[in-house]
Amino acid sequence: MKISDTNFNKKTILITGGAGFIGSNIAFYIQKHFPYSRIIIFDLFRSGEKFSNGNLKSFGHYKNLIGFNGEVICGNINNRNDLIQLEKYKYDFIFHQAAISDTRVYDQEAIMKTNINSFYFFLDLAKRHDCPLVYASSAATYGSLEAPQKVGCEDPENPYGYSKYAMDQIAAQFSKKNPNIKIIGLKFFNVYGPREFFKGKTSSMVIQLGHQILNGQAPRLFEGSDKILRDFIFIDDVLQANIKACESKNNGVYNVGTGKPRSFQDIADILQKELGCDYGTDYFPNPYTGYQMHTQADITSSQENFNFEPVFSLERGIKHYVPNIKDMFKMPID
Ligand SMILES: NC(=O)c1ccc[n+]([C@@H]2O[C@H](COP(=O)([O-])OP(=O)(O)OC[C@H]3O[C@@H](n4cnc5c(N)ncnc54)[C@H](O)[C@@H]3O)[C@@H](O)[C@H]2O)c1
Repeated sequence: MKISDTNFNKKTILITGGAGFIGSNIAFYIQKHFPYSRIIIFDLFRSGEKFSNGNLKSFGHYKNLIGFNGEVICGNINNRNDLIQLEKYKYDFIFHQAAISDTRVYDQEAIMKTNINSFYFFLDLAKRHDCPLVYASSAATYGSLEAPQKVGCEDPENPYGYSKYAMDQIAAQFSKKNPNIKIIGLKFFNVYGPREFFKGKTSSMVIQLGHQILNGQAPRLFEGSDKILRDFIFIDDVLQANIKACESKNNGVYNVGTGKPRSFQDIADILQKELGCDYGTDYFPNPYTGYQMHTQADITSSQENFNFEPVFSLERGIKHYVPNIKDMFKMPID
């Protein structure tokens, strides 16, 4: 189903981070509904390089793009020589998703260089091409502030959250100087859905718990998980936000969640029901201090500015997702 009246046919669309989870879903949506669009994906993909936490430095994967028939450029947003390759096109829309997306990377230099420095280039690109730029911010900008989290009241608690917070400040300054260029930041809450598998340990708990259950194990949760609440949002609703944001009435940053927080225990219970198992739950102590206990997006301004209306409850999202969770079970991750 088409999400909005924006016509991407005969348009050139740049998707950075297009080999990742959210970017590849945007690419496939536009390809499916607008066969005369020209989509350019720019992504670093993955090498064997890892951060000190053991996770890969970038999660893009070619398997997320099987079936994609647009153009693909493998490049690093930190590298001017790679970015030069983007200069040969004339863009109508830019979706900027590329980032170090791992919230548990503490190498501040690497995060700030990748997430913040490169952002100036894409703002300038949007200005030169006079086209809308929709970029990924994050609920991590809120840290452990009380729910519901509202744009304009942020307190990031890790380098990743700060990098997105800084992008929001830079975008606001840019918009003041360039009010006619559409710049929209989207603060995604906890996204889950197809094409996240290759994020490994940083993928959502929906797929991780799903695979534990398929492995015949009880889902492993922190003690008290029925009281740890998150605003989990299905990828189709995140897609809706990205597409509708192209027609936002006002520049700014907007929350993208359901507004209806659910517990980790809910995920485990819904999965077991959908998979026809009842292994109970394997609880263990939460090793983290300063752990977010309740996230909940206030989506009033997203509704008002671009008619954002999430439609997937956790039950419906997981039901849609289960066939893919099964397909990805035992899939090699590299
Ligand atoms: N998934 C979520 O729950 C969530 C929540 C909040 C915000 N976000 C943000 O949304 C965006 C997309 O997230 P995702 O879940 O699809 O993550 P992802 O890691 O799957 O996608 C990010 C993509 O960026 C690419 N990338 C990383 N470093 C790069 C570099 N230096 N040059 C070029 N490409 C590079 C990766 O290869 C990857 O394909 C990110 O900016 C992330 O921070 C995601």
